[in-house]
Amino acid sequence: MLGLFDSGLGGLTVVKRVRALLPEHALLFLADQAHVPYGDRAPDDLHRLLVQNVRWLDQQGVDAIVMACNTSCAIADEFGYPEVRAPILDLIESAAIAIHDAGYRRVGVLATAATVETGAYAKKIRAIAPHVRVDEVAAPALVPLVEAGSLDGEATRLAVAEACARLPRDVDAVILACTHYPVLDAHFAAILGAGVARIDPAIEQAGRTAALVAARSIAPGTGRTRYVTTGDGDAFRASVQRLMGGAGDEVERFQIH
Ligand code: DGL
Repeated sequence: MLGLFDSGLGGLTVVKRVRALLPEHALLFLADQAHVPYGDRAPDDLHRLLVQNVRWLDQQGVDAIVMACNTSCAIADEFGYPEVRAPILDLIESAAIAIHDAGYRRVGVLATAATVETGAYAKKIRAIAPHVRVDEVAAPALVPLVEAGSLDGEATRLAVAEACARLPRDVDAVILACTHYPVLDAHFAAILGAGVARIDPAIEQAGRTAALVAARSIAPGTGRTRYVTTGDGDAFRASVQRLMGGAGDEVERFQIH
């Protein structure tokens, strides 16, 4: 079984990518909706939540933890991950690998305020691709819109446009560096246009997950996903069904904090 967590619904974009590559594995997804949005929280608080979520997944017996929250990865870059039995796949490292392999040179990073504050994206990209120029921009308005299910309206389009307008004009790629943002990809595509690549780190993250599964011979499981929230179970069930195209598998509420 593979474990994933995020502050909320954004992590479903990672679950989708992992599920596409590993249809036979059991997945356990934790959405810490009691504390969403993470992006406005202080580093100490985010570190406490990171430790709780990682330990909880580890205690469930997962074979690996597939990070589905950029903000938590950015905090781990500062504080480190807690010591657990399961190996942890970092999402920002996956984004850096994707940028390196594709050869982009001027990269915009749209992320939460907390992620931007750490500078973890620029640090991790430059560690493997020192020539890349990285500009990080916070887009705090977007997570609450996705959590509220406001995906299509004019207010959402304007919020995406406002975030993109703060990026340098000459970027050749933009990393959607919060897992909530790919849910709004149609808006990003329309606003950024065909000349700017949109990078979803979840694609590389899913590829690395499949490689880890093969390298460690992690046995396939039930092919089912167990969805857990620390927030409102009924609202979560409806959101999962909407965003995962009807998949309801096993949705539950579970208070870990
Ligand atoms: N989806 C998360 C991320 O990837 C956090 C969003 C939030 O709760 O602010 O950064």
